[in-house]
Order: sequence, then structure tokens, then C-alpha cells
Amino acid sequence: MKQVQRFLAGISLVLALPLSAGEGMWIPSLLGQLNQAEMGQMGFRLTAEDIYSLNHSSMKDAVVLFGRGCTGEIVSSEGLLLTNHHCGLGQVQQHSSVEHDYLTHGFWAMSREEELPNPGLSVSLLKYMEDVTDRVLADIPEGAKEKERMEIIEGHIRDIVKEATKDTHYEAEVRPFYYGNTWYLFVTEVFRDVRLVGAPPSSIGKFGGDTDNWMWPRHTGDFAVFRIYASPENKPAAYAKENVPYTPAHHFPVSISGIREGDFTLVFGYPGSTEQFITSDAVRLTTEVHNPIAIEARRIRLDLFEKHMKTDDKVRIQYTTKHARIANGWKKWIGENRGIERLGTVQVKQQQEAAFGEWVQKDPELTERYGRLLTEFKDVYARYTPATRQSTYITEAALAAEVLRLPGRFFDLIDYAAGKDATSEGLKEQGAKLWPRMASFYKDYDAATDQDVMASTLKYYWDNMSTTYVPPYLRKLYKKHRGDFQSMAAHIMGRSVFCRPGEIEAMLKSGQRKPIRALQQDPAMLIAEGFIDYHDACLLPVTEASESRLDSLYRCYVAAIMKMQPERRFYPDANLTLRVTYGQVDDYFPRDAVRYKHFTTLDGIMEKEAMGVYDYGVPERLRELHAAQDYGDYAAEDGLMHTCFTASNHTTGGNSGSPVINAEGHLIGINFDRNWEGTMSDIDYDPDQCRNISLDIRYCLFIIDVYAGARHLVEEMTVVK
Ligand code: ARG
Ligand code: GLU
Repeated sequence: MKQVQRFLAGISLVLALPLSAGEGMWIPSLLGQLNQAEMGQMGFRLTAEDIYSLNHSSMKDAVVLFGRGCTGEIVSSEGLLLTNHHCGLGQVQQHSSVEHDYLTHGFWAMSREEELPNPGLSVSLLKYMEDVTDRVLADIPEGAKEKERMEIIEGHIRDIVKEATKDTHYEAEVRPFYYGNTWYLFVTEVFRDVRLVGAPPSSIGKFGGDTDNWMWPRHTGDFAVFRIYASPENKPAAYAKENVPYTPAHHFPVSISGIREGDFTLVFGYPGSTEQFITSDAVRLTTEVHNPIAIEARRIRLDLFEKHMKTDDKVRIQYTTKHARIANGWKKWIGENRGIERLGTVQVKQQQEAAFGEWVQKDPELTERYGRLLTEFKDVYARYTPATRQSTYITEAALAAEVLRLPGRFFDLIDYAAGKDATSEGLKEQGAKLWPRMASFYKDYDAATDQDVMASTLKYYWDNMSTTYVPPYLRKLYKKHRGDFQSMAAHIMGRSVFCRPGEIEAMLKSGQRKPIRALQQDPAMLIAEGFIDYHDACLLPVTEASESRLDSLYRCYVAAIMKMQPERRFYPDANLTLRVTYGQVDDYFPRDAVRYKHFTTLDGIMEKEAMGVYDYGVPERLRELHAAQDYGDYAAEDGLMHTCFTASNHTTGGNSGSPVINAEGHLIGINFDRNWEGTMSDIDYDPDQCRNISLDIRYCLFIIDVYAGARHLVEEMTVVK
């Protein structure tokens, strides 16, 4: 448990390490001597050059940004890719139908011909990255306004990107770090022919569902298999039958030699967003304003979803994904609030701010430069906090009913229809664009569920916010229905055309102005528009101005903190760029007297199933394999099938699907979650409580090989014993 600290105590460099062990999301091209020494002490046998190299192939050539917000890793010389089941869920769902229900039964391509294309899915590989701070920040006049500054920066970025991609098939972007104190160029190769190769049934890939989400002990077989295809020249190419499996510069060998407590682990991936530098007021905004409102309002929605899902199978299927998405944030924020409370983060930050204030006072030059920072932060948060409070009530409660989210999609069409130049053809054209989105919305829409949600969330909004703002139409309804929200919701749903898909379809296909104009009197429109107009007119100006001001304040603040603590090792907040985080396989003590072991087993899956909870269904075949202890080559030394493990890597959303790599550079797991006790690590990392949760790669191979009989996929990999 305390191994990390023990190891570190042995290093003389430890003096320069004010970070907690495990903390840090490092830029792979910048792993310094301290990182290397630390990794070495933790057991890593390779070098920084093996992780990221410009001169020869390295691990980074096998790590991809998968889709818009996950990570994946290449595990064969023929472009075979692993990521999480929850990352590939959209694709699995897309290919599923009642006849081919891959969600329920899983999918395995037994030959290359059977691998399924996925329009819209891309993976991107980093070719190289480069510090371009000097070029980006050149020619900015002293005291330039934020807007002027941004314009100059954007101009420079355009030039840099153009130059980097000239005469190549590469794509490039320039991204800010440390609130715009540093800028990096990322040059990538983006592959758009990525095919689905395999996915376990949901009862394995989503085992535990929302019941276990964010939790340890965990038993989810959260993986899916894809393959990258390229042109015959091994370049990115749009989907084509002639494309061939991509030959990567590197692929991860897969180790089935086991995972022991204290083992070195490196997670290499695309963490999305963290906020380590925010002030105490910002922490309070999150934990005292945003989170409590969002938690309460989402609970209302989730309860009603569950009520309807329980009694209606169709609704259960329609609302599974929506429920999972809403529940994911709901549960994470509960954990985050508890963690922040337990760590006393607000008080700690206040003390740090006091120390900062004292440091600034010591030197007139510092006082001149930074002396007003803390007061300015206070002023901005004094305006930003109430505006955020209101907008959270609007997005999480007032506009929580699905039908109230539809009118916004029609604003452009309504504007167009109101214009002088509107033609029937033009209306049809716009309608034809809008209808497919509406049709896919209605496919998963249940009006009875939504009506309940509307009644309860509007009431929740009213109870908390009626003295602040209510759209006039809603106020009128309230009077008419004497405050009975059920009856108000029934009124709205009964009269709104948005609840009648047939009429919406006819309207969008008719090319007529009249029904579109009539939308302006629709009750759902009157409510939605009331909230949106208020938000855009009264809240947005405040939040936008505050955020822009905060950008420049934080830029200055972070630069000052770096000056104040020259000994401290800094790492930039996550921003969906490639990072390395290292730690060790580790258990933890969540509460008094309770110790959580660092791994789970298939036995635990059977135990959970016996509890009879909906999320704990087990496929028959898995039960049989367990009974026969038929684990192929994949059992652990103790004879058991290990399923998941915890380690002290600093991860966040976006790290889903990231490779977990051992001391030799071999793949031992696939990261897919964090523990509930540690979800505050986006703001405050606690080495005692923060753990990432990964799938044991042996369980993954067991499912592919023994359970699904797709041994050819394992044979393609470089398996190390
Ligand atoms: N908590 C994990 C991640 O954030 C997994 C989410 C998907 N799983 C689920 N049961 N909803 O984002
Ligand atoms: N399940 C998360 C994923 O998307 C990872 C969990 C976390 O936030 O660490 O990205």
C-alpha cells in the first residue's frame, strides 16, 4: 500500500518532488530526469525514449485518440486495436438490430471480410509534437486586450498549422497549456476506416452497469476490438474495400505473466480535462453550486426513468443509453463532492492563496504585477457564481424534459421561414436535413416518461427559482393550473406538435411556411424559448465575460505560482492531448477498517450474480467455463481468473481505453474507470484514495479466445508469458 512512498523515500531527488506519488499527467516528449528517476525507482525498465521518440518507433506509435474522447492501443502488426466496450458502444449499437443483437450477444468477426466499417469513426495517431510558444505569443503588445491577443494568436496558429501540414497528408493543431502560457503543435495522422472486429455481450462488457459504475470492487469486461485500415501505401484513406490492415510503427506486446501488488504501471492516453490550479472560490462553485443542483435534478430524472424502465421493456431499451449518460455525471459528482469535503480542499486552497498573497507583498515588483490578482478573482467569481447557478438550474432542470430540448433545433428553420427569400424548395431542403435527426430522437422517445420528467423538473426549478426567472407563459400556466405541475405538463404535452412525430415529419417535408410559423405559438416552444432567451440575454454575457477574464487571470496566476515555487515540478492540466501517467498496482482503504484488495476475480462475478440485481446477469457460457475452471492460458498463479485491478495512475475521462503498460513496456490492462472515493482527482489528487480501474488483459484474452472462440485474434498479437 505505502510502497510508492517507501520507494520514493529512497530517492535523493525526493526533495524536489512536492507532488504526491502517482499524481501527474506528463507530456510524453518532456519526460525529464526526475520523471525517469522516479519511474526507474518504481520499477520501470525502459527509458523515456522508448515512450516517445522522434528518431525511431516508440510506444506513442501504438496509442490512438479513439473517436472524440477515448483512447485505444494497437496490439498487432496488422492494426488490431483495443479500447473499452463503453467507447465502442455506439458502433456496436449501430450494427445491432433485433435479428443481429450484438449488444446482447456480442459480435466476433471470424474473418477480415466480416469486420464491419463505421462511418464517422476516426482514430488519430500522433506523429510528433513541438513547443511553439515563442511563435504563438510573438508580437503581442504589452497590455493587449484579451480579444486582440486571441486574434494575434489565432493568426499565428493558422500559419503554424499550414506550414506543418504543407505537402503532407498530416493534420495539425496547436493547443494551449497552463492557461495559454505554453503552446504545443500536434501533428497527427487520422485514420477514418476503422472496423469493428469484436465485442463481448453487454453482460460481460457492461457487467455491473450503473450499479457498479465508478465503483470498486469491479468486474466489468469493458473492452471492444477494432482494426485500423489504410490505403495499400499504408496511408489514411476513406473507407474502401481495397483498403488493407494498417501496419503500425509499433504495437504493444501483451503480457499474461501476471500483475502483482507494487508492480509499475504506466497509463498512456488522452485525459480530457482537469482543474488543479483553480482557486478556492472556483472549488466552491463546483462543489456548492453546480454539483448539488445537478445531482438533485438528475436524481429526479433518473428515478422517473427507472420507474418507467422497470414497467415497460420498450422504455428500458430506449432509455438505457440516456440513463447511463445522466447517471455517469450524477454519480461522479457525488463522489467528487465527498472527496473534496474529506480532503478539505477549499480550506487548503484558501491557505495557499494566503501564502501567495504574502509572497506577493514581499516584493514591490511582484506586488505591482500580481498584487490585484486575488481580489480580481474574487470579483469575477462574485459575478460568475450566481450566473452559473442560474444556468445550471436551466440546463439541468428547466430544460431537462426532452421535448423542451427540441424547439432549439428549429430556430434556424423558423428564422429562414420568416425571411423574405424563403422558398418552398429551401424549406424542403432544410427540413430534409433536420428530419433524420428528429426521427432518431423519436425512435428512443417515450412521451409518458417525458411528461413525468417535465412535471417534476419544472416543479423543482419553480421551487428554487421562481423568484429569479420564469418564462411568462409558464407563469400563466401555473396560475391556470393552480400550481399543479402534473396537469401543466399534461397540458403542454397534449398541445405541443413536438409530441406528434407524424406532424413534425409532414411539416418538414411539406415545404410550407405556415406550420413552421405556427411553431412560435407552440407551448413547448414558448417555454423553451423563454428560458433560452433569458439565458442568452441575461446569463451568457456574464458567463462569457467572466470566463474570458478568468482565462487571463489564471494565465497570470499560474505563471506567478511557477515563479513562487521554482522547486516544484509542474504538469499541465489535462486537455485531451497525449499524456503519460505512472504509478503502481495498489490496494486502498476506503473507510475505517475496510481494505480493498487490488484485484477481482470471476468468482466475484458469480457472487454478484447470486444477489439477483438487474445489472449482474451472467451469460450461461461464462458460468459453465467458471464451473469447469476452463481458463485456457489465462488463469493467474492462484488458479483464479482475475478480472480487474486498481493502481495509482492519475487518470480522468478520456483515459477510457488507455493501455496500462508494465515495467517492460508490455500491455497488462485496459483502463476504464476510477474509484468513487477518488473522483475528486480532477481537482485534488489524494495518493491514499485515488485509484484507476483497469481490465486485466488476461480476462480480455480469455473472453476473446476461450469464451468467444476468436483465437485467431489472440494469435495475431505478440503474447508474452
Ligand atoms: N465511469 C466510466 C467513465 O466515465 C464509465 C462510464 C460508462 N459506464 C456506465 N455504466 N455508464 O466515464
Ligand atoms: N470512464 C471514463 C472514460 O471515459 C474514465 C473514468 C475516469 O473519469 O477516470 O473516459
